[in-house]
Amino acid sequence: MKKLLVLYCSPRNNGNSALLADAFIRGAIKKGHEITEYHLAGKKISPCLACNYCLKNEGVCAQKDDMVDLMQLLQRHDTLVIASPVYYLGFPGSFKNVIDRTYAESVLKRKIKSTILLTTASKSEDSVTEVMTNYYHALVNFLGFTNLGIISAKGVDAAGEVNNFPCIDEAYQLGFNLN
Ligand SMILES: Cc1cc2nc3c(=O)[nH]c(=O)nc-3n(C[C@H](O)[C@H](O)[C@H](O)COP(=O)(O)O)c2cc1C
Repeated sequence: MKKLLVLYCSPRNNGNSALLADAFIRGAIKKGHEITEYHLAGKKISPCLACNYCLKNEGVCAQKDDMVDLMQLLQRHDTLVIASPVYYLGFPGSFKNVIDRTYAESVLKRKIKSTILLTTASKSEDSVTEVMTNYYHALVNFLGFTNLGIISAKGVDAAGEVNNFPCIDEAYQLGFNLN
C-alpha cells in the first residue's frame, strides 16, 4: 500500500484540478492506499532564499512558514500526487516555490519515491500541456522519482467543468489501479 500525499496546487479549492484529484482519491481509497490531502490555497510558502542555511543545519530551513509542515508531510509519504492547473504553459508559482524549498531535502534525503501528475488547462490543443509535462518528466528524472501516471484535461476553464469529461473516470481508474 502506498502513502500518498495529494498536493492541490490551484488557488481554487473546488476547481478542475481538485476535482481530478478527488476522483483519483476515490479510486485509490477503494484499494486501501493511505491518503493525505494538502491544499496550497491560502498557505504561505515563500520562495527559496538560496541562503544555504538548510545545508548547514540538517535540512532545517531558515524561513518559518507553511513549508515547515509540508516538509514534514513530504518526509512521511512515498508518493506525491500533483494536482495542478496550467498557468502560462507551466506550474503555478505556488508549486515552484514548494519544489525550490525542497532543496532542504538534499540534506534530509527525500522519502518521496514516485509521483503522479493531474493537470487541467482551458485550451484544447495538445501543445498547451506539453511544456508542463516535459518539465515534469525532466524534474522527476532529475530528482530520481518514478512517474506513475499523467492525466492532462484540456478545454476546461470554469470551475467544475471537468466533471463532464471522461478524464474524471480516467483519474478514478488511475487511483484504483495503483499498486
Ligand atoms: C494565471 C492563469 C494562467 C493560465 N494559463 C493558462 C495557459 O497557459 N493555458 C491554458 O490552457 N489555460 C490557462 N489558464 C486556465 C486554467 O489552466 C484552467 O482554467 C484550469 O482548468 C484551472 O484549473 P483549476 O480550476 O484547478 O484552478 C490559466 C489560468 C490562470 C488563472
